[in-house]
Amino acid sequence: MWVRGYRIVRTTCIVRFEQIHIENFRNHRLTNLPAAQGINVLVGENGEGKTNVLEAISFLCLTKSFFGNMDRHALKFGAKSFTIEGIARSQAGRAYSIRVEYSGEESRKDVFLNKAAVEKFSSIVGTFPLVVLSPESAAITFGPPAERRKFLDFVISQSSRVYLEDVLDYRRILRQRNKILIDAKIAKTNPRKLLEPWNTELIERGTGIVLRRRSFIEEFQPIILHVYQELAGSEEIPGLRYAPSFDLSGATSEKEVQNRFEEELERRSVEERRSGSTVVGPHRDELELLLNETSLKGFASQGQHKTFQIALKMGEFHYLRERCHETPVVLLDDVFSELDAQRAERLLNVVMNLGQAFITTTSDSWFPPDFDWSGPHRRFTVHQGSVFHEEATNIIS
Ligand SMILES: Nc1ncnc2c1ncn2[C@@H]1O[C@H](COP(=O)(O)OP(=O)(O)OP(=O)(O)O)[C@@H](O)[C@H]1O
Ligand SMILES: [Mg+2]
Repeated sequence: MWVRGYRIVRTTCIVRFEQIHIENFRNHRLTNLPAAQGINVLVGENGEGKTNVLEAISFLCLTKSFFGNMDRHALKFGAKSFTIEGIARSQAGRAYSIRVEYSGEESRKDVFLNKAAVEKFSSIVGTFPLVVLSPESAAITFGPPAERRKFLDFVISQSSRVYLEDVLDYRRILRQRNKILIDAKIAKTNPRKLLEPWNTELIERGTGIVLRRRSFIEEFQPIILHVYQELAGSEEIPGLRYAPSFDLSGATSEKEVQNRFEEELERRSVEERRSGSTVVGPHRDELELLLNETSLKGFASQGQHKTFQIALKMGEFHYLRERCHETPVVLLDDVFSELDAQRAERLLNVVMNLGQAFITTTSDSWFPPDFDWSGPHRRFTVHQGSVFHEEATNIIS
């Protein structure tokens, strides 16, 4: 059932963090954050450690940094290990604990869900779905196709374990295949025989990825339309168009897509031998972003880009909530300071209805002066790697 563009989900479960404990992570020596159920605003000057708190939350949800940084970079200078722990509770009252430990000496990371060691980290991705909007999100609309593929992979992986496994496998196969191609190019040999077994795997995994990307984009289109218009309040119509690396038109079944992939691989075999790399496959896909049927790139204003980025992320929230039956945690890093007053107000209204959010800002002047901080929303200040709850009299860390 759809209401105002969103499908009403009856089985969605809301898991919210109640406590976040951060030790020796970036500039945080010991931080305890008693998180509120709704909006958690982290206010502080530049370089105080606000984004670091969000990055710590991303370790709890994704087992790694949303920046894609190496774990050891997050280790506090001079410390031997870091620990991040989150205590969460579902609406039904079920308690969860998630703990990430990293040892610098051993370069070893351990993850514990409800005190049990997690063998395969990818298995818990999606347990606490996450939506992140940060200055880096600008790359989704401004950057090269790889940024949009990253967006697709990030969203779909959190809602489909099979997709995540396909992507990880595909990357491995691609590396092997590219190695054969580059070796053959250097040695001036024909790699055809060596490539054969890898082609089969590439096509199989790649087809899974292509099919899921295609259906995701179809499902995502009405969501993005609604969110964009809610934010922009205008006649602008956003659109998404999938541009795969080989022609998919008319191919509906898995077998048909596999055949197309195989034909294109064959057709471009000379080109890939010349370049020493695989030139066909989902690693060459593009997701075109449109506004009123025109490409966003080279045409849209800064404000339209920004609105599109926010709409993609808010759309991601609604999509994940529906698919994972969990309400994602929302992280907004430095988003409000860049918006004009009207857009900031609209975004705040949208975010207040989302669930739990963590928002960093250097100034909270965009909040209405009479905003009620005593209910489900809390304001913290961050200073030199310590977090203080403003309304509480005691220091938290
Ligand atoms: N591994 C580390 N160990 C100790 N301190 C670190 C480490 N990595 C980063 N820092 C420190 O963390 C601080 C930056 O924190 P963060 O990015 O969270 O700031 P911020 O409050 O978000 O600032 P801004 O408003 O500029 O975005 C810097 O002072 C930096 O030196
Ligand atoms: Mg920051």
